Amino acid sequence: MQILFCHPNAAPGEAERWQAGLTARLGAAGLGVPGFTIRTPEVAAPPADYALLWNPPPAALLGQTRLRAAFALGAGVDALLGADVLPPGVPLYRLEDAGMAAQMVEYALHAVLRWQRRFDEYEALAARGEWRTLTPRPRPLIAVLGLGALGGAVASAFAGLGYRVRGWSRSPRTLVGVEGFAGPEALMACLDGAGVLIDLLPLTAGTRGLLDGRVFAQLMPGALFVNLARGAHVVEADLLAALAGGRLSAAVLDVFGQEPLPAGHALRDRPEVTVTPHIAALTRLDAALDSIAAAITAIEAGATAVLGRVDPARGY
Ligand code: NAP
Ligand code: GLV
Repeated sequence: MQILFCHPNAAPGEAERWQAGLTARLGAAGLGVPGFTIRTPEVAAPPADYALLWNPPPAALLGQTRLRAAFALGAGVDALLGADVLPPGVPLYRLEDAGMAAQMVEYALHAVLRWQRRFDEYEALAARGEWRTLTPRPRPLIAVLGLGALGGAVASAFAGLGYRVRGWSRSPRTLVGVEGFAGPEALMACLDGAGVLIDLLPLTAGTRGLLDGRVFAQLMPGALFVNLARGAHVVEADLLAALAGGRLSAAVLDVFGQEPLPAGHALRDRPEVTVTPHIAALTRLDAALDSIAAAITAIEAGATAVLGRVDPARGY
């Protein structure tokens, strides 16, 4: 079996760690020792059976006629599908949870509790040496957009803590303690009066530019917006207007239309906006290797239903 690894932004030694981890797991599964090529512009890749990809250049798979499957080394496949890298008919798999759901839950809980309990404001008061009690915010109604591997875990975590939670998906989803809304016509009802909006949608033709002034106007005045998914969901001018007009009191943003967020960008250096550098849920090597090795083992055994299969027509 030949494996092609293409991740131009991998840290030094990272590709070798993927190779070692996958070799050990496939060996343990009785699949022998795979050939492993780390693709660089200088290295001609032999025909591969499987490709592991993250931000590959457009020609990464040119001439690869033997591929049985490609694996994204992350959860979102918008960049991969948008770059048109995959030869027609090659199935694409993505990481489904693989250690990311717990990280998303941690990030979302921190963002909401920091705002709800006003710890952000207490930090500013402490920095000025002030000792003062602020009126606590009531527990907000939370709307989570996207109820998949990550959004479903976040919605369930808040519901488990006793928050009122609504969730929005394309098809109806049933999660304990979460009021479900499905389809475009149900979006406004899901958002109506919510004190917190958490975005965990994939980026597709149906979600690009979805979060605009109309969406923010549907929330409770002074709501919190938390974007953990993709910056291109947001109409940035509308977000800035919602913050300036007080429709939103704060935003916690992990993702942006342009990354890294440029110096001097209007979303930088605002006290009510918290910026993190796309770290809400990082790919965890061991969990990702377990998931990809399990998928390859299943495909080699002839399985047809394998976890994480992407539907290119749907875009996620
Ligand atoms: P997922 O399992 O594919 O779930 C996607 C959810 O969104 C599903 O519930 C789906 O509905 C819903 N959805 C898709 N299109 C929709 C539409 N047009 N209208 C309403 N609902 C729609 O994805 P995931 O693994 O949870 O990941 C979500 C996203 O998180 C990724 O695509 C990626 O962009 C982002 N992410 C960010 C980071 C970070 O560090 N910031 C890390 C990992 C992932 P159905 O249930 O009906 O299919
Ligand atoms: C990160 O954003 C991912 O999609 O895994």
